[in-house]
Amino acid sequence: MAATQHDNTVAAQSSINIGHRQQHKGQEALNMASILQKLMTPLVSGNPEPPRNKVTVVGVGQVGMACAVSILLRELADELALVDVMEDKLKGEIMDLQHGSLFLKTPKIVAGKDYSVTANSRIVVVTAGVRQQEGESRLNLVQRNVNIFKHIVPQIIKHSPNCIIIVVSNPVDVLTYVTWKLSGLPKHRVIGSGTNLDSARFRYLMADKLGIHTTSFNGWILGEHGDTSVPVWSGANVAGVNLQTLNPDIGTDADQENWKETHKQVVDSAYEVIKLKGYTNWAIGLSVADLIESLIRNMNRIHPVSTMVKGMYGVKDEVYLSLPCVLNAGGVASVINMTLTDDEIGQLKQSADTLWGIQKDLTDV
Ligand SMILES: NC(=O)c1ccc[n+]([C@@H]2O[C@H](COP(=O)([O-])OP(=O)(O)OC[C@H]3O[C@@H](n4cnc5c(N)ncnc54)[C@H](O)[C@@H]3O)[C@@H](O)[C@H]2O)c1
Repeated sequence: MAATQHDNTVAAQSSINIGHRQQHKGQEALNMASILQKLMTPLVSGNPEPPRNKVTVVGVGQVGMACAVSILLRELADELALVDVMEDKLKGEIMDLQHGSLFLKTPKIVAGKDYSVTANSRIVVVTAGVRQQEGESRLNLVQRNVNIFKHIVPQIIKHSPNCIIIVVSNPVDVLTYVTWKLSGLPKHRVIGSGTNLDSARFRYLMADKLGIHTTSFNGWILGEHGDTSVPVWSGANVAGVNLQTLNPDIGTDADQENWKETHKQVVDSAYEVIKLKGYTNWAIGLSVADLIESLIRNMNRIHPVSTMVKGMYGVKDEVYLSLPCVLNAGGVASVINMTLTDDEIGQLKQSADTLWGIQKDLTDV
């Protein structure tokens, strides 16, 4: 136990790009080297093993740090790299995390403005960008964030050409498409967090109303992350009991019990949380770590995430929308052909049209 802890400390010392340990220079560094030589006899020479499960988070704002902490607490990475343009903020965040390294099992945490710190990442999560303001639609953010992505994505690919990219920044579906285009990666290796969060909110709200645990309500929100998301009422079930068989009007205007309101609550959730605390971060952080677990552990679990849907459900344009996707070590292995009603397919196509309406006007993508 003591040995493991010591090894971790040494690994951390040699890997920190910024932070208080960088001050160990000159004579102090020499003294440390001599102690190190006396303390241990190396059995292996040459470079240390490269990381196998390195995860990078680009953008250390509220969302990026919630992702980082969730990844650390779930012990998903053997190396975590953080990148941001705000050097002081980055330095403060990495120092704060390093001070908690005694309580973590990720032996190496690095940070830097320069993307060389991200080299050999297996997964890169992009949370950088301008945040949604109170009352601002996600789609309004688009061109501002596209310009930021034009700088970020080529840097990611330069240092980790084999990575899988998870896009979180909003509007997430458009920016996932932009990332796919800018990266040149195959479509199965560019994933948007999409409606994974919307579905989590839906499952929580429905389960809460039914007095059961969130995991025991099965339901999917597909399509666009945001205002035109599509609740799949036809598939909502508890223990295989389809709620539509109990209430054929569920989710429609004719429903006396007004279950449709739950989807409206999902759509309004982000706006409400932003109004109350200024941003949303914990749920998105937890949900991104869940996606990373399926990828890193090659689990073949199914998540509603944003993927390239051209040719599916009659969508004709190159848009990213959320459908149930099988995630494993290669990225999106397959898309589930979910049985949807004509109305649900119509709503999906509407989401696709909305997104294409924005994408077709983007410049330099
Ligand atoms: N997909 C979802 O479900 C979901 C949920 C919540 C938030 N979001 C989105 O996540 C994004 C981040 O939100 P936040 O609350 O963390 O915002 P924030 O303002 O707290 O953080 C954004 C960070 O990005 C950094 N940044 C800006 N330009 C950069 C660049 N070129 N390179 C690297 N870093 C850069 C900023 O310095 C800042 O630290 C927003 O677009 C927000 O809308 C998405």
